[in-house]
Amino acid sequence: MDAAIEIRGLVRHFGPIPAVDGINLYVPAGSVYGFLGPNGSGKTTTIRLLLGLLRPDRGTVRLMGGSPHDAACLSRVGALVERPALYPYLSARENLLLFATLGGLSGGEANRAIDGALGAVGLQAVARRKAGGFSTGMLQRLSIALALLREPELVILDEPTNGLDPAGVVDVRALITELARSGRTVFLSTHVLTEVEQLCDRVAVLQRGRLVADGLTRELLERGQWLAIDFDTEEESVRAAVALREAGIGAERAGDRETGLRVTLDGPGPSAINKLLAERDLHPAELAVRRASLESVFLDLTDGV
Ligand SMILES: Nc1ncnc2c1ncn2[C@@H]1O[C@H](COP(=O)(O)OP(=O)(O)OP(=O)(O)O)[C@@H](O)[C@H]1O
Ligand SMILES: [Mg+2]
Repeated sequence: MDAAIEIRGLVRHFGPIPAVDGINLYVPAGSVYGFLGPNGSGKTTTIRLLLGLLRPDRGTVRLMGGSPHDAACLSRVGALVERPALYPYLSARENLLLFATLGGLSGGEANRAIDGALGAVGLQAVARRKAGGFSTGMLQRLSIALALLREPELVILDEPTNGLDPAGVVDVRALITELARSGRTVFLSTHVLTEVEQLCDRVAVLQRGRLVADGLTRELLERGQWLAIDFDTEEESVRAAVALREAGIGAERAGDRETGLRVTLDGPGPSAINKLLAERDLHPAELAVRRASLESVFLDLTDGV
């Protein structure tokens, strides 16, 4: 798979504090990649380094196979990081036209790009209104429209749903899904777990400038799964725990009941476990896969920071 983003050994300090502390990251082309981390974990700093807005102390960054200081390479990337400087006395459309012109588009080509970007973020109806009168959500959409103007192959969005009302959040998430469907790579920073679950096929979790996990979102969520088994008697439950541990499977008494077991699911799956129990004449009254909340998976990974 081609890399849309490749980060190696990236380090950046502000004074003595490492904001980014040795990150390695590989974002395959075509993925929707979640960059998840609590406040101050280094998401924005990493994105600024990615875009060449900040110089690293150490390490390298490749965007679409090129350097972030190469204009040809940057023209294939659209980004929303920090609020862009919009002109309050210009309309949404005029603001876009200004950026389109700066980006080398003109005439019909610029108009088509602007219509496309306005349509993507749902701002057509207010395109002629002055940006100065826009709400937070409308400004956010206009900022995303700017990022989409040049039909980028890679879209980098730093907390794009921040400050939006619920309808705005739904719209921006739908937009991201649409971008992915049209074959773009989306790199999305967020501290909202449901956003990652809904949108991202891959995720990296950042804590204090370091990656504490990365990979398929599905696999990360599976880490928070366990098997809840309940028996009719405590005697069966104790025998089952012994049998499972002998087979190398983690099993402990469920906190709330004597007949219940909590079984680790990082090895054999539920049916294999059930079979193993049946072979010892142990027949659960109930057996169910339970999932820790996303919050607890995240808090486990980030020490609750
Ligand atoms: N320009 C700067 N000068 C000094 N320190 C900075 C600067 N930018 C970031 N930092 C520090 O670097 C660390 C990482 O900040 P960063 O903004 O990258 O985090 P973040 O994950 O984007 O946080 P948030 O979720 O709040 O946006 C923080 O400790 C922050 O205080
Ligand atoms: Mg940030």
